[in-house]
Amino acid sequence: MSVHNKPPISIYLSILILIYVLFLNPLRAEDKRQEIRFGNNGVFRILQVADMHYDYGKSTECLDVLPYQKKSCSDFNTTEFVRRMIRVHKPNLVVFTGDNIFGFDTIDPVRSMNMAFEAVTEAGIPWAAVLGNHDQESSLSREGIMTHIVKLPHTLSRINPDGLGYEIDGFGNYNLEVKGALHSPLANKSVLNLYFLDSGDYSTVASIPGYGWIKPSQQLWFQQTSDRLQQEYMSEPEAQKSPAPGIAFFHIPLPEFKLFDASNMTGVRQEPISSPSINSGFFTTMVESGDVKAAFVGHDHINDFCGKLNGIYLCYGGGTGYHAYGKAGWSRRARVIDVSLEITMNGNWGSVKTIKTRKHLDDPPRLSSIEPIVLWSRHYAGRRRKVVP
Ligand SMILES: *[C@@H]1O[C@H](CO)[C@@H](O)[C@H](O)[C@H]1NC(C)=O
Ligand SMILES: *[C@@H]1O[C@H](CO)[C@@H](O)[C@H](O)[C@H]1NC(C)=O
Ligand SMILES: *[C@@H]1O[C@H](CO)[C@@H](O)[C@H](O)[C@H]1NC(C)=O
Repeated sequence: MSVHNKPPISIYLSILILIYVLFLNPLRAEDKRQEIRFGNNGVFRILQVADMHYDYGKSTECLDVLPYQKKSCSDFNTTEFVRRMIRVHKPNLVVFTGDNIFGFDTIDPVRSMNMAFEAVTEAGIPWAAVLGNHDQESSLSREGIMTHIVKLPHTLSRINPDGLGYEIDGFGNYNLEVKGALHSPLANKSVLNLYFLDSGDYSTVASIPGYGWIKPSQQLWFQQTSDRLQQEYMSEPEAQKSPAPGIAFFHIPLPEFKLFDASNMTGVRQEPISSPSINSGFFTTMVESGDVKAAFVGHDHINDFCGKLNGIYLCYGGGTGYHAYGKAGWSRRARVIDVSLEITMNGNWGSVKTIKTRKHLDDPPRLSSIEPIVLWSRHYAGRRRKVVP
């Protein structure tokens, strides 16, 4: 026996490199994680989780619960609620709309984030997050927080788009394309466009008090992305002749949320609308673009209403987290958004037909479903000819 008969070390190295390139290459992983599509049941289900305000886990106290609930309650109740929602309702995507951690309290934001997102990272389902105004309040900046989020397992979150040719404000502006059902004619087209925006934290303009807002650079990116996706979709002969619908997610409510009262909202308004003190025009930009049918925000934990203005539903998620302020006796909640496809004349899954939403309460052992509404349904406007005098 002689060591000389063993293959040279370089062969082992080559095999290792081959394995890395074929199976572990991060670039390959990146391509793979882009793909989200409608299931064989023709439904794409999104779970919105708003304002977890995660801190340390077991030792974190719950705010605004009934006195008898105080002792046995911690951040783990937030995790358990999200876990149960995932187990029972099997979302295709979970969206966290900011204030995911409570930076003001935590001294280890990485640990807080790892715990906060554990329900999705362990379930292995795709998820996306945007930032609120509290995520960066400890040792990590907004960029630092987002940089950690995009490295977590199974996330589709992005820091910002590449190659724009201009600087975009904030961290966590990106879009996701939800493709049609597999083997259907729209299998390679985005039939549902999801937009994620960083609504900032606080104003940095001395003469303007209050919260941050969606800046012109972000609106330009949104407009360009929406235009491109509409063109790509409409170029497909099998697609409907009106844009694929879009949904936007960000943290801070737009000033337009203030235009609703009990007569035209579904859900409740139990605290003032904490929007920025100026209007940067993002609502108008969405109306003009024509594809966004609903926008979902967090920020005000005990408002959970939806209201419709100029063809767009504006919706709160309603607070999910137990370490966030809330209202004792008023259950923590999370929102489900169900998007359904139509069946074409050839019996294939086609374009999006309806977008519906409802909320689920954390009222163990139940997850009571409340206030279902239809946010949008396709009206086949293209089939009816307009008579022009
Ligand atoms: C929090 O979780 C514990 C343990 O599962 C449970 O006993 C308690 O009722 C929960 N508290 C609330 C407010 O849901
Ligand atoms: C979608 O793309 C895949 C892979 O490139 C291809 O096999 C399939 O035929 C395409 N489907 C449609 C409907 O274009
Ligand atoms: C809701 O109804 C009130 C009247 O009760 C009206 O003033 C307001 O403009 C309505 N809001 C919207 C968005 O339609």
